[in-house]
Amino acid sequence: MTSRPSIAFARFAVPKKGSVFVLAANDGGLGDAAKACDPAKTLERAFPVADFSGKFAGLVEVLAPEGTSLDRLVAVGAGKVSALDDYAWLKLGGTIAASLRKATEVAVMLDLPGADVGGRQAAQLAAGILLRSYAFDKYKTKKDNGDGNKAEPKKPVKVTIHTADPTAAKKAFSDEVAVIDGVLLARDLVNEPANILGPVEFAARVNELEALGVTVEILVEKEMKKLGMGALLGVAQGSPRGARLAVMRWNGGKAKDSPIAFVGKGVTFDTGGNSIKTASGMEDMKGDMGGAAAVTGLMHALAARKAKANVVGIIGLVENAVDGHAQRPGDIVTSMSGQTIEVLNTDAEGRLVLADALWYCSDRFQPKFMVNLATLTGATMVALGQHYAGLFSNNDELANRLTSAGQATQERVWRMPLGTEYDKLIDSKNADMKNIGGRYGGAIIAAQFLQRFVRDTPWAHLDIAGTAMGAPSSEINQSWASGFGVRLLDRLVRDNYEE
Ligand code: BES
Ligand code: MN
Ligand code: ZN
Repeated sequence: MTSRPSIAFARFAVPKKGSVFVLAANDGGLGDAAKACDPAKTLERAFPVADFSGKFAGLVEVLAPEGTSLDRLVAVGAGKVSALDDYAWLKLGGTIAASLRKATEVAVMLDLPGADVGGRQAAQLAAGILLRSYAFDKYKTKKDNGDGNKAEPKKPVKVTIHTADPTAAKKAFSDEVAVIDGVLLARDLVNEPANILGPVEFAARVNELEALGVTVEILVEKEMKKLGMGALLGVAQGSPRGARLAVMRWNGGKAKDSPIAFVGKGVTFDTGGNSIKTASGMEDMKGDMGGAAAVTGLMHALAARKAKANVVGIIGLVENAVDGHAQRPGDIVTSMSGQTIEVLNTDAEGRLVLADALWYCSDRFQPKFMVNLATLTGATMVALGQHYAGLFSNNDELANRLTSAGQATQERVWRMPLGTEYDKLIDSKNADMKNIGGRYGGAIIAAQFLQRFVRDTPWAHLDIAGTAMGAPSSEINQSWASGFGVRLLDRLVRDNYEE
């Protein structure tokens, strides 16, 4: 990967070399620490000609100012100071990371007139720098420095964030880094091509979480067969690569507390099976394990920051491929729940995988709630585009908490309906249900299908087909894979389920 910036926090001091970033309020006002940087006057003089008013994420810079040893002094607009929430600080970090050019030594002066810049804000800004700096370039034998020219690997940039209370910043950052590492892990898994990352290889990556104190169990086909997971195994049977069910447990809460649970769709490649997809865009289906990646990234985050909660993560890992053993349209499979499913379209496979994973989860753990994540339907993208994930839930409290966490993290979710009118569309003549419904409401129909496997457990389904991959790049992500869900669910846990 592109070398990751190293982050340090220090008490305010006047930087003597390297590139320096200062913040400007929306009237162009600089803080005292910024003003103490020698060429600040020169910088301020450039504001009018650069038409810089301190607008959020606006930039103006002076290069190699005469009379100082600095390479560059950059003002970053912070906009309306009263509007600076966590996400705004994250974005400011992203803006700075995007403007590093070839700097190897960077100082950020974190003061801003009229703003309360504490450890939390400093940590968010640092997190934004890390998120924005991520690039999936491990297969480029010559690294791209971001300017389109292939050149030798960039040296890791050293960023020192100058702040009033570096101790508080460090403390807040240590939690934040756990989450960021979870996001970057999820991005890595989603970006990885399917020849490298199949179910078995994914399971091996999950095993690495044991180093953080996560208990990991990997179920193989034989065990799943014994459990009766005919729906999940039916999807896997057209691939030589095997199926796995990974069970992760983080017990940071009280021993007697029942866990909360997260379940992910992990189709490491989705050809559609015998109901095969068209060629155009099929390569994107290497990301059809975005739900499983988010759950894995979340478990990393929670364990690395030692969250005070008991959490279960379960992911169903299969490749939906097509060979002579692949299931056919019309096949009828029996799920672990005992319910039978007529598979009318082998490309509606995610719900089959989740049917058994959700049932197994509620059956074994009786969790307080289950949230599943899945790149489940193209229909979700038709409905919501790529800015919101679809949210379906049988529980208003859980749905509201997810919506709030979505607002806070800007990993936004939009609740869509469930109801018996939709549910009956998947009744089947030949089995208990079929895996597709009619022409309309495809995202809802998929959710109704999942709901048949959750019993009375409070449950929410997030359809992340539009947000996990290929979403528009942002201040904090330039990569195809976004890692969507990790920050959202970490926030859900942090705000509602820790002692
Ligand atoms: N993995 C796809 C959904 C998807 C599509 C995710 C595009 C991300 C981008 C899923 O398995 C699928 O193929 N769904 C079908 C369902 C249909 C056959 C009822 C779809 O959405 O077309
Ligand atoms: Mn499919
Ligand atoms: Zn799929």
